[in-house]
Formats: sequence, structure tokens, C-alpha cells
Amino acid sequence: MDIRGRRLRQQDERTTRFISSIGFDGAIADEVLRVNRAHMVELVRRGEVSRPVGSKCLTFLRDAHVDAAGAAPAEDFHHLLEQAAVDALGVDVAGYLNLGKSRNDQVAAAILMHLKRSVLRVIEGALELQEAVVWTAEAHGRTVIPGYTHLQHAQPITLAHHMFAHFDSLGRDIERLSQLYARADSSPMGAAAIAGTSVRVDRGEVAALLGFSRTTANAMDAVSSRDVELEALASFAILMCSLSRLAEELVIWSSREFSFVEIPDEFTATSSIMPQKKNPVVAEIARAKAGSAIGSLCAGLAIVKGLPHSYNLDLQEVTPHLWRSASDAEDALALLAAMVRGLRFDGAAIARAIEGDFSTATALANYLVREHGISFRQAHAVVGALVRDAIVKGKPLEHVADARLGGLLAEETGRRINVDTRAVRSTLDAGASLGTITSSGGSNPDFIAGGLKSRADSMREERAHLKALRSAADRSDRNLARSVESIIQGVNR
Ligand code: ARG
Repeated sequence: MDIRGRRLRQQDERTTRFISSIGFDGAIADEVLRVNRAHMVELVRRGEVSRPVGSKCLTFLRDAHVDAAGAAPAEDFHHLLEQAAVDALGVDVAGYLNLGKSRNDQVAAAILMHLKRSVLRVIEGALELQEAVVWTAEAHGRTVIPGYTHLQHAQPITLAHHMFAHFDSLGRDIERLSQLYARADSSPMGAAAIAGTSVRVDRGEVAALLGFSRTTANAMDAVSSRDVELEALASFAILMCSLSRLAEELVIWSSREFSFVEIPDEFTATSSIMPQKKNPVVAEIARAKAGSAIGSLCAGLAIVKGLPHSYNLDLQEVTPHLWRSASDAEDALALLAAMVRGLRFDGAAIARAIEGDFSTATALANYLVREHGISFRQAHAVVGALVRDAIVKGKPLEHVADARLGGLLAEETGRRINVDTRAVRSTLDAGASLGTITSSGGSNPDFIAGGLKSRADSMREERAHLKALRSAADRSDRNLARSVESIIQGVNR
């Protein structure tokens, strides 16, 4: 019997193929099966379906191996599964599967369930990258590197300072994903098509069997909203932008002009014509996948924006974007984490890059304010003139300072000012200038130990949270399996 019923004449096969989601339903096949099991358990518990019928349905659902990429043309996996059940058990038995539920609430539930699992994997990946980043901060943290703004040397910083910046932005990605997880944790089941159902189902019980902590309040909202999916697409896109920026830095830092870092061979490729080439291909593809994630977000927003309530088949087109973004994020995180751990920094090349780059000019300006009671803008002008002079004469800043600082200060302030040349020289030293930083979150090497500790604490907390969410999910999985078994065994006994 064809479960599509008798209202319509035969669907054109091209229609079926065109509208079908079967090509990407494989991602949620397991979740669709679990939704069907939980719903049938509830129907039996409420006496809406007899135990013998429920038991047969549950046995089928427990043992089903329905290939989402099966040969028969189907609108979607929901259709394929029910048809397979009817073929196997007969319509007088499997015909109860869809009592009190619709593909609309079923697909919304399955997507959220799969999304929740994906989000946990992405969080785990982000934690792994965080770990790689702090590992680098710990191993090479005191190395002084140029800090850039506008990709121009700005001020010297420690490598740890740079790594902590990546860590902290990843921390916000993790926070965003955790908040998203909480919003995704609401069960649409029981909403049926749009209006709810007269069939007695305890929505809270079904939700619990599916690992949701609550139910969506309004049935129409439950089946027609995809804002959580859009938020996921946005969160993945934002995360991918963080990764893309890290990837971009590795591309730049590993170029010959910089030579700050050597990327491990495992994450590079050579050229088919130029035998010497070492191309940072993993970083490049990570950077490009951020573009795809942004595209997926735009696609999702554009698909949803003009839809009237409630369910429209357009919503189906959002789903594959979601899975692509999620798996790209997972892959990129894993590879970047491994790559970052294998980076080899060239301290000598980095030191050469800092030499003579005037990046301690701000430190000197601050020193002049503190030491000689002039305003910062005056000090800024004096040091700017010194730098200009150094460039024109092709001399190091400290030489020019020895000769010209007193004169420039007098010119700027109209006062005679005695300059302590030794103190000025030490202010101009990159390492010494870092030691004078006092503001929290700054790049003073003395702050590294504390920075490592607070970040280790944050990772520990996030890992504990992740573990708690995972064990709650495992508990409800076991609970569902037990409930299914108890109905099957109860009948067979
Ligand atoms: N394949 C659909 C999707 O992914 C399932 C829901 C279809 N609902 C419907 N009334 N045709 O969104």
C-alpha cells in the first residue's frame, strides 16, 4: 500500500526527485528513528495504541536498517521509513506510526537533536584548539614578537599575548555555542502539523525520552521556526571567521618574507610543477570554508525571511547548509589544533623583524610624560620627530635620541629638560618595555603564568559542562532504549 493515500493521482517522478530531501536526510536518519520510537512508546503508554501493535512497531523501529539513499524514490526519509514499516508490518499495524505526529514536528525535532550532538562536537573541537593555543603559549610564550595593527609593526608583544587573544575569542565561540545548545534543547514533538493533536501524548515525556529538557510552548512556532538553525549557522560562520583569521596569520607568518614559523609538512602540499614549493593548504582551505559558512548563513536567512507561518517545504532547503557548516567547523578545528601544536617558531627571524622597527616609540612617549611632566600629545610629537629623523638618517632610534631628544623637548615645551640617556635606551628596548606594562590583560611577560592558569580553569569548566551534557544525552538514550524494550518484552512474555 502506498502511504501517500488516495487524494492525488500518481506523483511525477521528477517532482519526487526535485522536492526530495532524501539526499541529505541521512544526517538525521538516526534521530528520525528515535523520534518514531519515543512517540510510539508514548502512544502505547497512553493507551492510544494497543501493546501488541506498539510492540510490533517498536520491534521494527529498533531493528530497522532503512537506507536513506535507498533505491525507491521517496519525498524524504520520514516517508521512506513509514513506507518500509507498512510494507513490512502491514498497514493495520504500521499505519499507527503517524498517529498524533506529522513530518513537520518530527523533522523539527530530528534537526534539533542532530544539531545538539553536532554542537557538542564543535565545542569539543574548539576546546582542543584552545588547548593547542595555550600549549604554544606555554612553550614559546616569552618569545617577543611584533604586534601588528593595520599589518604594520605597532608594539612588541609576547607570543603568549597573541595566543591568548585567539584563546579568548574561541572562548566566546564556545559560549555562543553553549547558549545555542540551550535554545535548541526544546522539543517540538506533539505540535503535530501546526495545531497540536487530540491524540493523548504527554509532550514532556516524549521530550525526556528524546533528551530535550523542555517542550516548545506554541505548536505553530514549534513546526515553523528555524531561528535556532539560523543562529547555529551564524555561530558556525562566526567561529569559522575566527579560524580563518588564525589561518591567515599562519599563511603570512610562514611566507619567506616573515619566516616566523614553519608549518609541519603534514598540513601542507607541494606543487605539481615547482619542486621546491611548500603550500599552506590546510590554512587556505580553512580560510575558504569560512566563506562557505558565510554563504550558508546568507542562504538560510534568505530562505526563511519571507515565509508565511507555518511550515513550508522551503524550510527543508536550510538543513543541508546546517550540516555542511557544522562538519566544516569540526574538520577545520581538528586540523588547526594539530597544526598549531606542530608549529616551529624561528626566534632569530622574529628578533630580526623587530630590530629597528621603532615599535617601542609609545613606551618612550609614556616615559617622557611620566618623567618630564609633559602632556602625551607633546611627547607623541617629540617621539614622532625622532622617528622621522632616524628614518631620514638611516640610524637606530636610540642613536638619534642620544643626540636630539633634549633639543626636541626644549623646542616642544619651551623648557630646558635634562635627558637621562641610559633610561631612554632601556625604555626603547622591546623586552624591557614589556616589563613596564601594568594594565590587566596587557602583554607583560609576568602576566603569562596567571593567564595560563585562568585559561586552564576555563577549559576545565567547559569540559565539565560538556561532559555533563553528554551524560544527560546518554541517559535519555538509554532510557528510550529501555522503554522500547520494556514494551517489546512485556508483550512477548
Ligand atoms: N523533508 C521535510 C524537511 O526536511 C520533512 C517535512 C516535510 N513536511 C511536509 N509536510 N511535506 O523539512
